[in-house]
Amino acid sequence: MAYENGENKVSGYKTEGLEQFLIWVREDIAGEIGAIDNYQYHIDSIDIPEIKEILSHIRDDEKEHLAELTNLLRRFDATQNLKFENDHFAGGTKSEEAAGGFTVGNA
Ligand SMILES: [Fe+2]
Repeated sequence: MAYENGENKVSGYKTEGLEQFLIWVREDIAGEIGAIDNYQYHIDSIDIPEIKEILSHIRDDEKEHLAELTNLLRRFDATQNLKFENDHFAGGTKSEEAAGGFTVGNA
């Protein structure tokens, strides 16, 4: 990733304050997505029901973190929030509409 320790390694510009926070939140969101996929891979790769159940619970905790971080990003990144609000493909994303949809890891 281009950003580490508050510095943009491409330009050398040091980020701080809200800008740095938004970079970290985006990195954290990416980490949560990676964690969800990793847990799902492990769930799919093991045949012991008790372990599957525990890992599924942890995977769903990561989904909660992803939602919390995404909402945090929306609160502090006005442009990102507008993109969510103006997303023309967002139909069916309301909870009641998405309830019957597919999710990673129904197991
Ligand atoms: Fe997490």
